[in-house]
Amino acid sequence: MLCLGIETSCDETALALVRDGVVIADVMSSQADVHALFGGVVPELASREHYRLIGALCDEVLRRAGVTAADIDVVAVARGPGLLGSLLVGMGFAKGLALATGARLVGVNHLHAHLLAAGIAAEMAYPALGLLVSGGHTHIYRMESPRRMSLLGRTLDDAAGEAFDKVAKQLGLAYPGGRTIDELGRKGRVNPAMFPRPYVDNDNLDFSFSGLKTAAGLVVQANPALIEAARAVMTGSALSADASNADDTEPDSTLTDVSSLCDMCASFNHAVADTLRIKLERALARENGPLPGTPTVAARKKRKKSGAVVVDAGQAASPCPPTVPEHAALAAHAGQGGEVPDTHRAPVRALVAAGGVAANSYVREALGDLAMRAGLPLLLPTPALCTDNGIMVAHAGWQLASLGLWHDLALEAIPRGRSIPDDFTMFRSV
Ligand code: KG4
Ligand code: ZN
Repeated sequence: MLCLGIETSCDETALALVRDGVVIADVMSSQADVHALFGGVVPELASREHYRLIGALCDEVLRRAGVTAADIDVVAVARGPGLLGSLLVGMGFAKGLALATGARLVGVNHLHAHLLAAGIAAEMAYPALGLLVSGGHTHIYRMESPRRMSLLGRTLDDAAGEAFDKVAKQLGLAYPGGRTIDELGRKGRVNPAMFPRPYVDNDNLDFSFSGLKTAAGLVVQANPALIEAARAVMTGSALSADASNADDTEPDSTLTDVSSLCDMCASFNHAVADTLRIKLERALARENGPLPGTPTVAARKKRKKSGAVVVDAGQAASPCPPTVPEHAALAAHAGQGGEVPDTHRAPVRALVAAGGVAANSYVREALGDLAMRAGLPLLLPTPALCTDNGIMVAHAGWQLASLGLWHDLALEAIPRGRSIPDDFTMFRSV
């Protein structure tokens, strides 16, 4: 089965071809430069760029794969959530192509496609616990199948990627800034006390990153030298200062500021990664039972009240995962913060993380530690497949079509903020 995937939900026009689950070609045009001028995505410009490029990119992906449009069996298109005008460009193109060639049309949930991309390099194990961290979303899902994913928690305000981008903007770094903050952080030292772990002293699985963004903004405001250092990094003068200062005995103030910038970025990365890990660990505790050393929410609140620094004890704990029979014993702890597994559901067999922020090296490390302690596999797309791409849509479309799921031409685009309906039609053979 040859499946073409089309992704136009935000600022990347991306198409890919997958044959029976194997990627055979992909193309992508990023609009980052267009939007960088404005410090964020301008929806009208985004749809115009998609419209300008989509035809040529489709020709190119077919050429690279050595196939023609008539060879396509399934046209998969990201139907949302995203910018409505941008989605409509991809959707109109996909419908026209399906109509002209007789291929099946499959509307793909962009967020599900991100998570399913973790199954490209390794086999997905269901049920899985999925953390989707992108520029617009921070969601925790229980993943039952490529089609069925139930939302367990979500951000109440800014998404993790949005927090990265806004802090980068305050520093004057180029949009989107997540990757730069990650890279700068790698040259600095983490101060765990510099930033809070926001919205963790509660008993839910939701996130709130706006306080962390504000805390970082206050640090930047109080230290204007950080903005100067960011400018020096952007223009490359920090690197030349580094070289020219090699023999100097006097410390160069630019270098001192760049090193403070790197420390701040390291601490910010660490705070985001730790917050994501805490909530994913809590979600895992609810599904499979607590890991040894995980503080209950009640313990967290108590320790916070007493003024103690709340540090999770899990780091050094045994890597043994809780077994199913333990669930009965754990049920006896009901009321101690909600970390009681639902004994009617099968325990999760894997952790999954995807979306642009899952490319972050701190997030990958923190979740790797969690997976090791839980004794579960952690499935992560490669960093290039964490951010928006056409391969994830083609791959998800191929999986859905293999289950006999498709859409007719009434398929609707769903903008951000509205939930995506499960409105597939079944067909018997493909
Ligand atoms: O998934 P994605 O490409 O687009 C959406 O669907 O939103 O995610 C984009 C987001 C941006 O906020 C970007 O700054 C962030 O992912 N991002 C990163 C990294 N790479 C991309 N954030 C932190 N560290 C990274 N290495
Ligand atoms: Zn995305």
